[in-house]
Amino acid sequence: MSATALTMPKEKHSKIHAPPSKKISFPNNSILKHSLFFLILFIPLLIFIQYKALQSALHFSWPPLASRLSDQDLTSMLRDSVTFLPLKDLRFSKQPESGHTWFMSSVNDTFEPNDPQYLYFPSNSSKGRVLCLSAHDRHDGAKNLYAFAWREALPQGATLLPGLTYVSSTYYDHNNLWHGLNAIVPFIGWNMRKGCVVPARWVLFHWGELRSKMGKWVNSVAQVTIGNVEIETFEGIEGPACFEEAVVFRHNHGGISKARLREVYDRIRCKAREFCKVDTEKIRDNKDVQMTLFLRTGARSFKNESVVVRVFEEECRKAGNCRVKVEKTDNLSFCDQVGLMSETDILVTPHGAQMTNIMFMERNSSVMEFYPKGWEEFAGIGQYVYKWFSDWAGMKYQGVWRDPEGPPCADPTDRSHCDFKDRQIGHDTAYFSKWASKVFEDMKEYKQSIAIKGTDSSATRTSSCQCR
Ligand SMILES: *[C@@H]1O[C@H](CO)[C@@H](O)[C@H](O)[C@H]1NC(C)=O
Ligand SMILES: *[C@@H]1O[C@H](CO)[C@@H](O)[C@H](O)[C@H]1NC(C)=O
Ligand SMILES: *[C@@H]1O[C@H](CO)[C@@H](O)[C@H](O)[C@H]1NC(C)=O
Ligand SMILES: *[C@@H]1O[C@H](CO)[C@@H](O)[C@H](O)[C@H]1NC(C)=O
Ligand SMILES: *[C@@H]1O[C@H](CO)[C@@H](O)[C@H](O)[C@H]1NC(C)=O
Repeated sequence: MSATALTMPKEKHSKIHAPPSKKISFPNNSILKHSLFFLILFIPLLIFIQYKALQSALHFSWPPLASRLSDQDLTSMLRDSVTFLPLKDLRFSKQPESGHTWFMSSVNDTFEPNDPQYLYFPSNSSKGRVLCLSAHDRHDGAKNLYAFAWREALPQGATLLPGLTYVSSTYYDHNNLWHGLNAIVPFIGWNMRKGCVVPARWVLFHWGELRSKMGKWVNSVAQVTIGNVEIETFEGIEGPACFEEAVVFRHNHGGISKARLREVYDRIRCKAREFCKVDTEKIRDNKDVQMTLFLRTGARSFKNESVVVRVFEEECRKAGNCRVKVEKTDNLSFCDQVGLMSETDILVTPHGAQMTNIMFMERNSSVMEFYPKGWEEFAGIGQYVYKWFSDWAGMKYQGVWRDPEGPPCADPTDRSHCDFKDRQIGHDTAYFSKWASKVFEDMKEYKQSIAIKGTDSSATRTSSCQCR
């Protein structure tokens, strides 16, 4: 029986002949004629509609997906469909700064004119989804992951952390005064616009790697300006952490206008002075010019400090109504630095991160910067940051002195092998005298002008401390 069942029907092997063509003739009955016409017209149409329906099965499938699945099934499917991507996108690892970012590269920033670029979740652009991070790794940013999920369907094993989370990503670091300040300034600016809400936690990334702390000085700036800083390390959180609200900054100053930056620095100055109990009235009433020599030990110290100090003291004596103070950058507490800068009208200092403190001076104070040999040739554009920063913070940049002397770099083609960053700085007493004399005169003139006008230096007004 089975054998016969498998036998092919004979016809299959026979040649297929086309049937003789038949002339199609319509019956004479006109109603029938019309019905046939209708059928001929509509059958292909129906087939076409059916075909279209199959093509877009999602829209036409029957019965609809939802009616076949319980809410529970759907939620579970949503949970499982949350897609995690690496925080650090290795495709861009060779050009981390050229136009795009390797940190959360799948999402675009929000642009508000004059304000920093940022990402905010949940938002319309995330379709109301919150940000989730699975980011415990401290050595490889590509092993840390991010995803977006609806609160009702967080990924399996996720923890929802309440309140506002501030996520800071930097290509530099959160330790160095300058780099750290740059990383947190955009958040301070945003925070001022959003009612100065203290975030519930900070999450720090460097190259997508998790960091558990900031440098002491940077932490102090954050603490006095924004409020209690709680750095999240995800310890004790096994699965992904999702955030009720999260704001992400990954471009340092990117997008902020000069005017907005100045507002941010005014606020930092005001809050820091308030916290450190600096007597701003007393500082403003002081008609003398105070010059501070803020000197480093080791790298970028002056080869002969006493000679340098004497030159500036001599010019101060000649100018009159003037005082010179000499301080070392080492071992000064945050408030020591804020206090010292608050009373400084003219800062004399070698190039270095300690210059980040210039934002604590009164607006329109002066800055004089010194470099050892090698910087101009090898250090690149980054060496000009304090010139820009002086301008952003409302200070007067009085120029630089570059030591013309020093050994040539061993291999001029490879700056990483050149020790210029660690060198000491020489001096040129004649040049320093002339330079100092001019800056003293400038400052005396300025101080007289504000004394006559009774100008209330806007930077010291307590209103800068208020949130706006
Ligand atoms: C991000 O912006 C770029 C360029 O404007 C655009 O091509 C891309 O589609 C945007 N991506 C998202 C996820 O919105
Ligand atoms: C988000 O979308 C809603 C509804 O489309 C709209 O009313 C609201 O203004 C949008 N919010 C933002 C910040 O664009
Ligand atoms: C600094 O210069 C002065 C005057 O030229 C000289 O007497 C002194 O020995 C120098 N000090 C050092 C440490 O080189
Ligand atoms: C700073 O402190 C360290 C250790 O506390 C000490 O060794 C060093 O001498 C101090 N430097 C100055 C300039 O006081
Ligand atoms: C700084 O000086 C300029 C003139 O040089 C003046 O217009 C400005 O008001 C001053 N700023 C402050 C904050 O005093």
